[in-house]
Amino acid sequence: MSTRSPINACISGTGFYVPPRVVTNDDLITQYGIETTDEWIQQRTGIQSRRFADAGVGTAELGANAAQDALQDAGLEANDLDLIIVATLSPDFAFPGSGVLLQHRLGLNEGADAKHVPALDIRNQCSGFLYSLTTANAMVRSGACKHVLCVGAETHSAALDLSTRGRTISSLFGDGAGAVIVSATDEDRGIRSIHIGADGSHAEILSQRIWDIRDRPFIALNADGIGQVAPEAMYAQMNGRMVFKHAVSRMSAALHRACDEANTTLEDIDLFFFHQANMRINQYVAELLKLPADRVPHNIHRYGNTTAATLPILLAEAVDSGTLVAGKKIALVAFGSGFTWGASILDW
Ligand code: ACO
Repeated sequence: MSTRSPINACISGTGFYVPPRVVTNDDLITQYGIETTDEWIQQRTGIQSRRFADAGVGTAELGANAAQDALQDAGLEANDLDLIIVATLSPDFAFPGSGVLLQHRLGLNEGADAKHVPALDIRNQCSGFLYSLTTANAMVRSGACKHVLCVGAETHSAALDLSTRGRTISSLFGDGAGAVIVSATDEDRGIRSIHIGADGSHAEILSQRIWDIRDRPFIALNADGIGQVAPEAMYAQMNGRMVFKHAVSRMSAALHRACDEANTTLEDIDLFFFHQANMRINQYVAELLKLPADRVPHNIHRYGNTTAATLPILLAEAVDSGTLVAGKKIALVAFGSGFTWGASILDW
């Protein structure tokens, strides 16, 4: 870790990776037998297709591919990193976290002079990327780190109830990974403000319980001593209308607060990157705040909700397409399970 005391923390590289298998709304019907329609899903969510990783592929692998892309974009080697942060709600294992698995995939533990870069996991679901960015920003500004890798990665397809019983949730989510490098810079740009918040009283409105550690043993055993998890525990549960309502108000308030803290206004912002949970939520927020549609890029129609990965994927695509270039003032906004939320203003 560096002892240099940087002035600002900026995003010096972006990258993403999505698995090649495209699953359209019609594929949910024909391949998985789900009773739904393309029209139902598109009308309520804006989603047309998502990507599913094949069996054998997990979150650390998706994340490592995105990380390599971001390192290349930043012109850095993996060995230049001082810290790895992985945000995910679909980690490869219960423990250890996907951060260390990703570190191993980047080869940062190999050789006599291995750097053994520390790796941590962030468990804040759809807001995970903004919680990661907040941590990276603090580590860079404090002088503890020069380059921090922030990855958002999800393998949702393994844990979706891909049947008619689970259709409300399973039609929303997709797999993918995005990554950014947060670097120290002396230039007058980068992260201007970050606001994050949480309200744990709504923890169970959108949750995947699987086990309750207060139970003994934590997963019930059948007569043969084999653990059994009921479907309602195994798969995520959601009160969609409550999520919609809270998302609109928290995202709007978080964005206003981040603007205030950055001493800027909505009119000054060139591009608004919203967490891609649901096209309707984002349209509602944009209408409420009178944001022109051409300043609110989206890709949910192609990838669905990739949770912690949506913001870094959206950023990487905007950089690749030439939409996001140096000098632009941007906002990042997210809301998700917890409830958790956040917003950040950056000068790119
Ligand atoms: N296809 C067809 N019918 C469906 C489907 C589907 N995929 N899913 C649900 N239905 C049916 C239900 O069974 C129900 O039928 P019924 O009236 O006969 O009982 C009917 O549609 C209405 O179901 P609701 O759950 O009430 O649907 P709602 O209109 O609330 O829409 C939705 C569900 C789209 C999830 C909505 O609540 C929403 O947009 N919520 C926001 C939550 C969200 O986007 N979460 C993403 C993850 S959280 C995050 O990232 C912030």
